[in-house]
Amino acid sequence: MPFVIAVPGETAPGERRVATVPEVVQKLVKSGHEVRIEHGAGTGAYYPDDLYMAAGATIAYSRAELLNGAQVVLKVQPPTIAEADQLPEGTIVIGFMNAGRNPEAVFRMRDRKITAFALELVPRISRAQSMDALSSQATAGGYVAALLGASHCPKFLPMLTTAAGTIRPATVLVLGAGVAGLMAIATAKRLGAIVEAYDVRRAAGEQVRSLGARFIELEIDAEDQGGYARELTPEEKIREQEMVSAAVARADIVITTASIPGRKAPLLITKETVATMRPGAVIVDMAAESGGNCELTVPGSTACESGVTILGSLNLPAEIPFHASQMFAKNLYSFLALLTSSDGGMVKEFSDEILAASLLVHDGEIRHGPTRDLLSGGMQ
Ligand SMILES: NC(=O)c1ccc[n+]([C@@H]2O[C@H](COP(=O)([O-])OP(=O)(O)OC[C@H]3O[C@@H](n4cnc5c(N)ncnc54)[C@H](O)[C@@H]3O)[C@@H](O)[C@H]2O)c1
Repeated sequence: MPFVIAVPGETAPGERRVATVPEVVQKLVKSGHEVRIEHGAGTGAYYPDDLYMAAGATIAYSRAELLNGAQVVLKVQPPTIAEADQLPEGTIVIGFMNAGRNPEAVFRMRDRKITAFALELVPRISRAQSMDALSSQATAGGYVAALLGASHCPKFLPMLTTAAGTIRPATVLVLGAGVAGLMAIATAKRLGAIVEAYDVRRAAGEQVRSLGARFIELEIDAEDQGGYARELTPEEKIREQEMVSAAVARADIVITTASIPGRKAPLLITKETVATMRPGAVIVDMAAESGGNCELTVPGSTACESGVTILGSLNLPAEIPFHASQMFAKNLYSFLALLTSSDGGMVKEFSDEILAASLLVHDGEIRHGPTRDLLSGGMQ
Protein backbone atom coordinates (compact mmCIF):
# COMPACT_ATOMS: atom_id res chain seq x y z
CA MET A 1 0.00 0.00 0.00
CA PRO A 2 1.39 3.42 -0.92
CA PHE A 3 1.51 5.89 1.94
CA VAL A 4 -0.16 9.10 3.01
CA ILE A 5 2.41 11.89 3.11
CA ALA A 6 1.69 15.11 5.01
CA VAL A 7 3.58 18.38 4.69
CA PRO A 8 2.94 20.97 7.40
CA GLY A 9 3.86 24.62 7.05
CA GLU A 10 7.12 25.50 8.81
CA THR A 11 6.62 27.42 12.04
CA ALA A 12 10.17 28.50 12.98
CA PRO A 13 10.61 32.30 12.85
CA GLY A 14 12.03 33.41 9.50
CA GLU A 15 11.70 29.96 7.93
CA ARG A 16 10.33 30.41 4.42
CA ARG A 17 11.22 27.01 3.00
CA VAL A 18 8.78 24.14 2.58
CA ALA A 19 9.61 20.44 2.57
CA THR A 20 8.08 19.59 -0.79
CA VAL A 21 7.27 21.41 -4.03
CA PRO A 22 4.61 20.78 -6.69
CA GLU A 23 7.07 19.13 -9.12
CA VAL A 24 7.92 16.50 -6.50
CA VAL A 25 4.28 16.11 -5.43
CA GLN A 26 3.44 15.17 -9.00
CA LYS A 27 6.02 12.35 -8.94
CA LEU A 28 4.83 11.09 -5.54
CA VAL A 29 1.21 11.06 -6.65
CA LYS A 30 2.20 9.28 -9.85
CA SER A 31 3.79 6.55 -7.70
CA GLY A 32 0.42 6.13 -5.97
CA HIS A 33 1.07 8.07 -2.75
CA GLU A 34 -1.49 10.45 -1.28
CA VAL A 35 0.02 13.87 -0.56
CA ARG A 36 -1.54 16.42 1.77
CA ILE A 37 -0.22 19.95 2.07
CA GLU A 38 -1.16 22.26 4.91
CA HIS A 39 -2.92 25.36 3.60
CA GLY A 40 -0.33 28.06 2.86
CA ALA A 41 2.69 25.81 3.56
CA GLY A 42 4.44 26.86 0.34
CA THR A 43 3.48 30.54 0.37
CA GLY A 44 6.81 31.76 1.80
CA ALA A 45 8.68 29.96 -0.97
CA TYR A 46 6.25 31.14 -3.67
CA TYR A 47 4.51 27.80 -4.17
CA PRO A 48 0.80 28.64 -3.79
CA ASP A 49 -1.81 26.05 -2.82
CA ASP A 50 -3.27 25.89 -6.35
CA LEU A 51 0.03 24.61 -7.79
CA TYR A 52 0.08 21.78 -5.25
CA MET A 53 -3.53 20.97 -6.09
CA ALA A 54 -2.76 20.95 -9.80
CA ALA A 55 0.06 18.49 -9.01
CA GLY A 56 -2.43 16.16 -7.32
CA ALA A 57 -2.14 17.09 -3.62
CA THR A 58 -5.05 17.83 -1.34
CA ILE A 59 -4.93 20.96 0.82
CA ALA A 60 -5.60 20.48 4.54
CA TYR A 61 -7.06 23.42 6.43
CA SER A 62 -6.21 22.19 9.93
CA ARG A 63 -3.42 20.16 11.51
CA ALA A 64 -5.92 17.46 12.49
CA GLU A 65 -7.08 17.16 8.87
CA LEU A 66 -3.46 17.12 7.71
CA LEU A 67 -2.16 14.48 10.11
CA ASN A 68 -5.13 12.16 10.56
CA GLY A 69 -4.01 8.83 9.05
CA ALA A 70 -0.71 10.21 7.70
CA GLN A 71 2.18 7.72 7.76
CA VAL A 72 4.95 10.12 6.77
CA VAL A 73 5.44 13.79 7.69
CA LEU A 74 8.00 15.86 5.77
CA LYS A 75 9.64 18.81 7.54
CA VAL A 76 12.50 21.24 7.00
CA GLN A 77 13.07 22.31 10.61
CA PRO A 78 12.92 19.92 13.59
CA PRO A 79 9.43 19.37 15.02
CA THR A 80 8.72 21.50 18.07
CA ILE A 81 7.43 19.83 21.24
CA ALA A 82 3.91 20.99 20.33
CA GLU A 83 4.30 19.52 16.84
CA ALA A 84 5.62 16.24 18.24
CA ASP A 85 2.52 16.12 20.46
CA GLN A 86 0.26 16.41 17.41
CA LEU A 87 1.86 13.45 15.59
CA PRO A 88 -0.03 10.17 15.90
CA GLU A 89 1.99 7.30 17.43
CA GLY A 90 4.07 5.49 14.82
CA THR A 91 4.26 8.43 12.40
CA ILE A 92 7.52 8.73 10.47
CA VAL A 93 8.89 12.28 10.39
CA ILE A 94 11.80 13.22 8.13
CA GLY A 95 13.75 16.48 8.18
CA PHE A 96 16.65 18.22 9.90
CA MET A 97 16.47 17.28 13.58
CA ASN A 98 19.43 19.12 15.20
CA ALA A 99 18.99 16.86 18.21
CA GLY A 100 21.68 18.56 20.30
CA ARG A 101 19.75 21.82 20.16
CA ASN A 102 16.29 20.26 20.56
CA PRO A 103 16.61 17.62 23.28
CA GLU A 104 13.09 18.12 24.63
CA ALA A 105 11.49 17.52 21.24
CA VAL A 106 13.64 14.40 20.77
CA PHE A 107 12.52 13.05 24.15
CA ARG A 108 8.93 13.81 23.28
CA MET A 109 9.17 11.96 19.94
CA ARG A 110 10.76 9.02 21.75
CA ASP A 111 8.00 8.94 24.38
CA ARG A 112 5.26 9.24 21.78
CA LYS A 113 6.80 6.42 19.73
CA ILE A 114 7.40 8.59 16.68
CA THR A 115 9.99 7.45 14.13
CA ALA A 116 12.30 10.34 13.23
CA PHE A 117 14.91 10.35 10.47
CA ALA A 118 17.49 13.15 10.68
CA LEU A 119 18.71 14.33 7.29
CA GLU A 120 21.92 15.71 8.78
CA LEU A 121 22.83 12.11 9.70
CA VAL A 122 22.61 10.80 6.12
CA PRO A 123 26.11 9.41 5.46
CA ARG A 124 28.08 11.20 2.76
CA ILE A 125 28.52 8.13 0.58
CA SER A 126 28.04 8.36 -3.17
CA ARG A 127 24.72 6.46 -3.14
CA ALA A 128 23.34 9.08 -0.75
CA GLN A 129 24.42 12.14 -2.73
CA SER A 130 20.92 12.78 -4.06
CA MET A 131 19.65 12.86 -0.45
CA ASP A 132 22.38 15.13 0.88
CA ALA A 133 20.28 18.00 2.21
CA LEU A 134 23.25 19.40 4.16
CA SER A 135 24.99 19.97 0.83
CA SER A 136 22.00 21.30 -1.07
CA GLN A 137 21.20 23.79 1.67
CA ALA A 138 24.87 24.75 2.11
CA THR A 139 24.94 25.51 -1.62
CA ALA A 140 21.94 27.81 -1.19
CA GLY A 141 23.48 29.42 1.91
CA GLY A 142 26.87 30.02 0.27
CA TYR A 143 25.23 31.79 -2.64
CA VAL A 144 23.18 34.03 -0.34
CA ALA A 145 26.28 34.80 1.78
CA ALA A 146 28.16 36.14 -1.25
CA LEU A 147 25.19 38.27 -2.31
CA LEU A 148 24.70 39.58 1.24
CA GLY A 149 28.37 40.51 1.42
CA ALA A 150 28.13 42.31 -1.93
CA SER A 151 24.96 44.19 -1.00
CA HIS A 152 26.47 45.45 2.27
CA CYS A 153 29.80 46.38 0.67
CA PRO A 154 30.10 50.06 -0.31
CA LYS A 155 32.20 49.13 -3.34
CA PHE A 156 31.71 47.58 -6.77
CA LEU A 157 32.92 44.00 -6.90
CA PRO A 158 34.13 43.94 -10.54
CA MET A 159 36.85 46.01 -12.13
CA LEU A 160 35.31 48.82 -14.15
CA THR A 161 36.86 51.09 -16.72
CA THR A 162 34.57 54.05 -17.14
CA ALA A 163 34.70 57.68 -18.29
CA ALA A 164 34.61 58.52 -14.58
CA GLY A 165 37.78 56.57 -13.95
CA THR A 166 38.92 53.04 -13.33
CA ILE A 167 37.53 51.07 -10.40
CA ARG A 168 39.69 48.36 -8.87
CA PRO A 169 37.96 45.05 -8.16
CA ALA A 170 37.01 44.23 -4.59
CA THR A 171 38.76 41.42 -2.73
CA VAL A 172 36.64 38.67 -1.22
CA LEU A 173 38.15 36.23 1.26
CA VAL A 174 36.36 32.95 1.97
CA LEU A 175 37.42 31.05 5.09
CA GLY A 176 36.39 27.40 4.95
CA ALA A 177 36.06 25.92 1.47
CA GLY A 178 33.49 23.17 2.02
CA VAL A 179 30.23 23.09 0.10
CA ALA A 180 29.02 26.55 1.23
CA GLY A 181 32.45 28.14 0.86
CA LEU A 182 32.94 26.84 -2.69
CA MET A 183 29.54 28.23 -3.69
CA ALA A 184 30.41 31.59 -2.10
CA ILE A 185 33.71 31.60 -4.03
CA ALA A 186 31.98 30.80 -7.34
CA THR A 187 29.35 33.50 -6.74
CA ALA A 188 31.89 36.19 -5.79
CA LYS A 189 33.97 35.27 -8.87
CA ARG A 190 30.92 35.67 -11.09
CA LEU A 191 30.40 39.13 -9.60
CA GLY A 192 33.93 39.99 -10.72
CA ALA A 193 35.77 40.12 -7.39
CA ILE A 194 39.30 38.93 -6.74
CA VAL A 195 38.74 35.90 -4.51
CA GLU A 196 41.07 34.29 -1.98
CA ALA A 197 40.20 31.29 0.13
CA TYR A 198 41.60 29.20 2.92
CA ASP A 199 40.74 25.84 4.44
CA VAL A 200 42.56 23.57 6.87
CA ARG A 201 42.00 20.67 4.49
CA ARG A 202 44.73 20.96 1.88
CA ALA A 203 42.59 18.93 -0.54
CA ALA A 204 40.26 21.92 -0.75
CA GLY A 205 43.05 23.84 -2.52
CA GLU A 206 42.49 22.13 -5.85
CA GLN A 207 38.76 22.89 -5.79
CA VAL A 208 39.40 26.51 -4.84
CA ARG A 209 41.91 26.96 -7.67
CA SER A 210 39.58 25.31 -10.18
CA LEU A 211 37.09 28.11 -9.45
CA GLY A 212 39.72 30.68 -10.34
CA ALA A 213 40.41 31.77 -6.76
CA ARG A 214 43.75 31.90 -4.94
CA PHE A 215 44.23 29.29 -2.22
CA ILE A 216 46.10 30.51 0.83
CA GLU A 217 48.47 27.76 1.91
CA LEU A 218 49.39 27.07 5.49
CA GLU A 219 51.75 24.29 6.50
CA ILE A 220 48.88 22.44 8.16
CA ASP A 221 46.73 19.69 6.78
CA ALA A 222 43.95 18.92 9.20
CA GLU A 223 41.76 16.54 7.23
CA ASP A 224 40.55 13.54 9.21
CA GLN A 225 39.76 10.11 7.75
CA GLY A 226 36.12 11.03 7.10
CA GLY A 227 37.12 13.97 4.89
CA TYR A 228 36.13 16.50 7.55
CA ALA A 229 38.40 18.93 9.37
CA ARG A 230 39.83 17.97 12.77
CA GLU A 231 40.35 20.50 15.55
CA LEU A 232 43.77 22.22 15.35
CA THR A 233 46.40 21.99 18.08
CA PRO A 234 46.96 25.20 20.14
CA GLU A 235 50.20 25.93 18.18
CA GLU A 236 48.46 25.39 14.85
CA LYS A 237 45.65 27.72 15.93
CA ILE A 238 48.14 30.54 16.62
CA ARG A 239 49.83 30.09 13.22
CA GLU A 240 46.46 29.97 11.51
CA GLN A 241 45.21 33.15 13.16
CA GLU A 242 48.39 35.05 12.22
CA MET A 243 48.10 34.07 8.60
CA VAL A 244 44.35 34.55 8.40
CA SER A 245 44.69 38.01 10.00
CA ALA A 246 46.88 39.30 7.18
CA ALA A 247 44.41 38.11 4.54
CA VAL A 248 41.42 39.46 6.48
CA ALA A 249 43.02 42.91 6.74
CA ARG A 250 43.27 43.26 2.95
CA ALA A 251 39.76 41.97 2.16
CA ASP A 252 36.67 44.05 1.41
CA ILE A 253 34.35 41.12 2.15
CA VAL A 254 35.12 38.11 4.33
CA ILE A 255 32.78 35.12 4.22
CA THR A 256 33.42 32.59 6.95
CA THR A 257 32.02 29.07 6.79
CA ALA A 258 34.49 27.11 8.94
CA SER A 259 32.96 24.45 11.09
CA ILE A 260 33.84 21.13 12.67
CA PRO A 261 30.96 18.65 12.95
CA GLY A 262 29.48 18.52 16.44
CA ARG A 263 31.78 21.21 17.88
CA LYS A 264 31.81 24.94 18.45
CA ALA A 265 32.96 26.79 15.32
CA PRO A 266 36.70 27.63 15.30
CA LEU A 267 37.56 31.25 16.09
CA LEU A 268 39.36 32.65 13.04
CA ILE A 269 38.85 36.42 13.34
CA THR A 270 39.57 38.06 16.69
CA LYS A 271 38.37 41.55 17.61
CA GLU A 272 41.96 42.76 17.22
CA THR A 273 41.92 41.50 13.61
CA VAL A 274 38.60 43.27 12.95
CA ALA A 275 40.28 46.50 14.13
CA THR A 276 42.86 46.13 11.31
CA MET A 277 40.16 45.92 8.61
CA ARG A 278 39.27 48.80 6.32
CA PRO A 279 36.19 50.87 7.17
CA GLY A 280 33.35 49.62 4.99
CA ALA A 281 34.58 46.05 5.05
CA VAL A 282 31.96 43.34 5.62
CA ILE A 283 32.13 39.99 7.38
CA VAL A 284 29.40 37.43 6.66
CA ASP A 285 29.69 34.81 9.38
CA MET A 286 27.97 31.65 8.18
CA ALA A 287 29.08 29.84 11.33
CA ALA A 288 27.02 32.23 13.52
CA GLU A 289 24.69 29.42 14.58
CA SER A 290 27.50 27.33 16.04
CA GLY A 291 29.23 30.20 17.87
CA GLY A 292 30.70 32.15 14.97
CA ASN A 293 34.12 32.31 13.29
CA CYS A 294 34.44 35.97 14.30
CA GLU A 295 34.72 37.02 17.94
CA LEU A 296 32.36 39.98 17.39
CA THR A 297 29.57 38.09 15.63
CA VAL A 298 26.15 38.45 17.24
CA PRO A 299 24.12 35.41 16.11
CA GLY A 300 20.93 36.48 14.36
CA SER A 301 21.97 40.12 14.26
CA THR A 302 24.28 42.67 12.60
CA ALA A 303 27.17 44.21 14.54
CA CYS A 304 29.21 47.26 13.52
CA GLU A 305 32.73 47.80 14.85
CA SER A 306 35.21 50.44 13.62
CA GLY A 307 33.27 50.78 10.36
CA VAL A 308 33.21 47.02 9.77
CA THR A 309 29.79 45.38 9.35
CA ILE A 310 29.54 41.87 10.80
CA LEU A 311 26.52 39.89 9.67
CA GLY A 312 25.54 37.05 11.96
CA SER A 313 22.54 36.02 9.88
CA LEU A 314 21.09 32.63 10.70
CA ASN A 315 19.44 30.34 8.22
CA LEU A 316 20.70 31.84 4.97
CA PRO A 317 19.12 29.08 2.82
CA ALA A 318 15.70 30.45 3.88
CA GLU A 319 16.61 33.67 2.02
CA ILE A 320 16.43 31.83 -1.29
CA PRO A 321 13.37 29.77 -0.44
CA PHE A 322 12.14 28.85 -3.92
CA HIS A 323 15.22 26.94 -5.02
CA ALA A 324 16.32 25.89 -1.53
CA SER A 325 12.90 24.20 -1.13
CA GLN A 326 13.12 22.64 -4.58
CA MET A 327 16.51 21.09 -3.81
CA PHE A 328 15.38 19.98 -0.34
CA ALA A 329 12.22 18.43 -1.82
CA LYS A 330 14.30 16.43 -4.30
CA ASN A 331 16.57 15.25 -1.49
CA LEU A 332 13.49 14.05 0.40
CA TYR A 333 12.08 12.39 -2.70
CA SER A 334 15.25 10.30 -3.02
CA PHE A 335 15.13 9.50 0.68
CA LEU A 336 11.51 8.36 0.43
CA ALA A 337 12.51 5.90 -2.28
CA LEU A 338 14.55 4.04 0.39
CA LEU A 339 11.46 3.74 2.56
CA THR A 340 9.44 2.26 -0.28
CA SER A 341 9.42 -1.50 -0.75
CA SER A 342 9.24 -3.19 -4.16
CA ASP A 343 5.41 -3.40 -3.92
CA GLY A 344 5.16 0.37 -3.34
CA GLY A 345 4.44 0.04 0.41
CA MET A 346 6.57 0.91 3.43
CA VAL A 347 9.73 -1.16 4.02
CA LYS A 348 9.35 -3.53 6.97
CA GLU A 349 12.71 -2.70 8.53
CA PHE A 350 15.21 0.11 8.30
CA SER A 351 18.20 -2.08 7.52
CA ASP A 352 19.44 -0.06 4.53
CA GLU A 353 22.75 1.60 5.50
CA ILE A 354 21.42 5.12 4.87
CA LEU A 355 18.18 4.56 6.77
CA ALA A 356 19.99 2.89 9.67
CA ALA A 357 22.51 5.76 9.95
CA SER A 358 19.89 8.50 9.88
CA LEU A 359 17.35 6.83 12.17
CA LEU A 360 17.29 9.12 15.21
CA VAL A 361 14.27 7.92 17.18
CA HIS A 362 12.25 4.74 16.76
CA ASP A 363 9.92 2.60 18.81
CA GLY A 364 10.38 4.52 22.04
CA GLU A 365 14.20 4.69 21.83
CA ILE A 366 16.86 7.13 20.68
CA ARG A 367 18.53 4.89 18.10
CA HIS A 368 21.45 7.13 17.11
CA GLY A 369 24.22 6.26 19.57
CA PRO A 370 26.12 9.59 19.70
CA THR A 371 22.83 11.51 20.19
CA ARG A 372 21.80 9.08 22.95
CA ASP A 373 25.14 9.66 24.69
CA LEU A 374 24.95 13.43 24.19
CA LEU A 375 21.44 13.68 25.58
CA SER A 376 21.90 11.13 28.36
CA GLY A 377 23.37 13.90 30.57
CA GLY A 378 19.96 15.54 30.73
CA MET A 379 18.05 12.27 30.26
CA GLN A 380 14.40 12.46 31.22
N1 LIG B 1 28.64 13.15 -0.75
C1 LIG B 1 29.88 13.48 -0.44
O1 LIG B 1 30.77 12.73 -0.62
C2 LIG B 1 30.13 14.82 0.15
C3 LIG B 1 29.12 15.76 0.13
C4 LIG B 1 29.36 17.01 0.71
C5 LIG B 1 30.58 17.28 1.29
N2 LIG B 1 31.56 16.34 1.28
C6 LIG B 1 32.86 16.62 1.89
O2 LIG B 1 32.70 16.81 3.29
C7 LIG B 1 33.67 17.72 3.75
C8 LIG B 1 33.02 18.82 4.57
O3 LIG B 1 32.13 19.60 3.79
P1 LIG B 1 31.09 20.59 4.47
O4 LIG B 1 30.83 21.68 3.52
O5 LIG B 1 29.94 19.88 5.03
O6 LIG B 1 31.96 21.15 5.67
P2 LIG B 1 31.55 21.80 7.04
O7 LIG B 1 30.31 22.62 6.90
O8 LIG B 1 31.61 20.78 8.12
O9 LIG B 1 32.79 22.81 7.24
C9 LIG B 1 33.05 23.84 6.32
C10 LIG B 1 34.52 23.91 5.99
O10 LIG B 1 35.22 24.48 7.09
C11 LIG B 1 36.52 23.93 7.08
N3 LIG B 1 37.21 24.22 8.36
C12 LIG B 1 37.05 23.61 9.57
N4 LIG B 1 37.88 24.17 10.48
C13 LIG B 1 38.56 25.16 9.84
C14 LIG B 1 39.55 26.10 10.25
N5 LIG B 1 40.02 26.13 11.50
N6 LIG B 1 40.04 26.97 9.32
C15 LIG B 1 39.58 26.94 8.04
N7 LIG B 1 38.64 26.08 7.59
C16 LIG B 1 38.15 25.19 8.48
C17 LIG B 1 36.26 22.48 6.78
O11 LIG B 1 37.45 21.84 6.31
C18 LIG B 1 35.19 22.57 5.71
O12 LIG B 1 35.73 22.60 4.40
C19 LIG B 1 34.39 18.21 2.52
O13 LIG B 1 35.53 17.41 2.35
C20 LIG B 1 33.43 17.94 1.40
O14 LIG B 1 34.04 17.80 0.14
C21 LIG B 1 31.35 15.11 0.73
